Amino acid sequence: MASAPSLGPVTERDSLPNIPWPEDGKTFEARWLSHNETPPPTRVIVADEKMTADEAYGLACQGTALLWRGDFQDARRLLNAMARRADRPQRKSRRGPAGSAEAFHLYRQAKSQRARTLKALLIPLDGDYTIPLRRAPDIRQACAEAWGPAQTRSVTSLRALLGVIGAHEWRTKGIDIPEAGGRIHPHFGVFAPIRREYVDLVSVAPLPPACTSTSVAFDIGTGTGVLAAVLARRGIEHVVATDLDPRALACARENVARLGLEGRIEVVQADLYPDGRAALVVCNPPWLPARPSSSMEHGIYDPESRMLRGFLGHLPAHLVPGGEGWLILSDLAEHLGLRDRASLLADFASSGLRVVDRHEVPPRHPRAADTTDPLHGARAAEITSLWRLAAR
Ligand SMILES: C[S@@+](CC[C@H](N)C(=O)[O-])C[C@H]1O[C@@H](n2cnc3c(N)ncnc32)[C@H](O)[C@@H]1O
Repeated sequence: MASAPSLGPVTERDSLPNIPWPEDGKTFEARWLSHNETPPPTRVIVADEKMTADEAYGLACQGTALLWRGDFQDARRLLNAMARRADRPQRKSRRGPAGSAEAFHLYRQAKSQRARTLKALLIPLDGDYTIPLRRAPDIRQACAEAWGPAQTRSVTSLRALLGVIGAHEWRTKGIDIPEAGGRIHPHFGVFAPIRREYVDLVSVAPLPPACTSTSVAFDIGTGTGVLAAVLARRGIEHVVATDLDPRALACARENVARLGLEGRIEVVQADLYPDGRAALVVCNPPWLPARPSSSMEHGIYDPESRMLRGFLGHLPAHLVPGGEGWLILSDLAEHLGLRDRASLLADFASSGLRVVDRHEVPPRHPRAADTTDPLHGARAAEITSLWRLAAR
């Protein structure tokens, strides 16, 4: 078996699998890089411009992956052509009644089937993340940000690579959040404040009476650190921002430093709460109670509402007298039949919490107006709320 050159020092990535493929009568292998821990495809053939989009799509649907050896821009065109085929309306597609949990699960199934098919188009990467194909962009920095320093020859899907490039562009450009005092630069895999509605809610809701110039606030599950920065800009002296994800922690620390808030915001790794009590505790948990299909979806899906219930259950023990917990939660799950309002209110009550007030904002993102989206009804009706909660 012809193998890739030396794999370099032992790191966490040495546990990543290799992907073998036949080429010129030999078997080669390289490190498999995925952006969401999917295993490498088991059947791989080499392909270039001689393959038609119909052939490529047919092979991908049957589970054969295509390692591209042609021009990089032609690979992008082929991926678009495959996507058009994947998006053709299926005669027998099952939908389930609109607004039902069944409709949502069928929608997710169809999405993941589409993703499986489109990720069959593979791109080789050299040991320094250079793409050894004609007219390929220089994506070395983008890959290093997503996967760490380059080590050895590898293969990834073009779809994953485009995601990595997109994430690099967001990270470089940043998102202007005036309420946070500047631009927030999301890292690869970290929940980005692209939808601004919830930031607006946190920037205008009245601070609880317990918040004084010397108060402490917690931001539980800080992601990019955006809400911690908003709280600091609102005058809270000391904010402790937690997250479990090392990518989020690194990202939040970088944003805090860029915004000049290092002395005011402490970013710590914790499962939900840090030690102690605060006058204000903010949490924007993932809003859909379902299992994420990859680590990239951890910002959206909260299996069995673990983070939501953990936040609520421990909140009273982390509030000073007169303090408030601010829960930011979209009601999309209610419109999709995944949660009901009564069970949310019951969770507040069983956690020893009462609702002080609720501030709401409708969606402003373009998907809410997209009538071709199978979840359009639910998305158009979605309201994001900031629930002000206090211990009873
Ligand atoms: C929806 S994102 C919100 C990020 C950020 N607060 C914002 O509003 O943009 C949820 C965040 O919670 C983090 N998270 C999930 N479970 C957690 C836990 N048990 N403890 C701390 N953070 C957690 C995720 O890593 C993610 O960064």
